[in-house]
Amino acid sequence: MTRRIGICTGGGDAPGLNAVIRAFVRHGVRTYGFEVVGIEDAFNGLFPPRRLHRLDLDACRGLLHRGGTILGTTNRGDPFAWDGVDRSAELRRAVDEEQLEGIVCIGGDGTQAISLALMNRVGIRVVGVPKTIDNDLSATDRTFGFQSAVDVATDALDRLHTTAESHDRLMFLEVMGRDTGHIALSAGIAGGADVILLPELPYRPERIAEAILARRHAGRSFAILVVAEGALPAGAPTAPAERKRALQAGGGAAAIAMAALAPLVEAEMRVTVLGHLQRGGSPVPSDRILATRFGVGALELFRIHGGVHHWPTDQPSRSRRAGACRDV
Ligand code: F6P
Repeated sequence: MTRRIGICTGGGDAPGLNAVIRAFVRHGVRTYGFEVVGIEDAFNGLFPPRRLHRLDLDACRGLLHRGGTILGTTNRGDPFAWDGVDRSAELRRAVDEEQLEGIVCIGGDGTQAISLALMNRVGIRVVGVPKTIDNDLSATDRTFGFQSAVDVATDALDRLHTTAESHDRLMFLEVMGRDTGHIALSAGIAGGADVILLPELPYRPERIAEAILARRHAGRSFAILVVAEGALPAGAPTAPAERKRALQAGGGAAAIAMAALAPLVEAEMRVTVLGHLQRGGSPVPSDRILATRFGVGALELFRIHGGVHHWPTDQPSRSRRAGACRDV
C-alpha cells in the first residue's frame, strides 16, 4: 500500500519553506513512491471544509527560489484551544480518514509545541522541521530563513551608511528578533554598525552616548545603530507580556532607544523599521541548501521511524530559556 504523508507550514513564513516542501516531495515521490498531501494553513486545513491537495512532482516545479509558502500559513488557531474548545480529537479523526500516516510540520516554537502535544495527547505522528528567521530554536544550530533575513538587514545597513554619513546623523535600524538578537548581531557585525542592541542584554543609554561621543572625538560625526525589535533599556520589565506592552507604548524598540538617547547626544536622528521585508522574497543559496537538507531529513525520519518528533522534550527552545514563549 502506498504510504501517504501530510505536510503543512505553521507560524510566520520564512524564506526556504517552499524549498523544504519541494525536497520532501521529490525525495518521497521519486525515491520511495510515497504520496504527499499538502495541508493548507498549518493544521487548520484538516478542519471542515478540508483543504488538502496532493503534491506531485509537477506541483513542486519552480519552488526552490520562491519565497513564502505554497501551503499558506497562520499563527492563529490552536487545535487544543479553538475558541476555548479542544478540537484535537477531530484533527486525529481527519488524519485517519485521510489515511495519513502522519504529518511533517514546518514551524517555529509555538507550532512545534502544538505538534508535540498532537503527538503525545492524541497520537498523531509528527515530524517537526524547525523554522524561523530569528534562528532561536534549540533543536538546530541554524534555521533556514535566518541568513536571508541577515542579508536584507545588512543591505539596509549599507544603504543607511551612505545617507547617515552625508547628513551626519544617527541612524537607527530596527530588525526582527522579539526574544533573541541573532539577526541584529549578525547584520550589525556584517554591516559595521557602531552600536548593536539585543533583547538578551538590557542597555544603558549613557553607555551608548559615551560610545557615540568617543566616535565624534575620533572625527566620525555619524553613527549606525542596530536595534533588535525586543531590545529594551535596563530597568525595563522582564516578563514577556509586560515587555510587549512597553514596546508598544514606546512606539517600538528603535523609537525607544532614540528617545532615550536624545537628551544625551545632540544630533539629528532617524529610525528605519525593516519589518516584514526581512521575511519576504527569495531565500539566499545557503538557506535553499539548508531547507533542502531539512526536507530530505524529514522524509528519511518518516521512512525509518514512521514519524517521530524531533523536539527534545527536556530542552526548551532558546527563546523559552530566555523567559519568553510565543503564543500561536
Ligand atoms: O518569529 C519570527 C518573527 O519574524 C519575529 O521576529 C517577529 O516578531 C514576528 O515573527 C512577527 O510576526 P507577525 O508576522 O505575526 O507580525
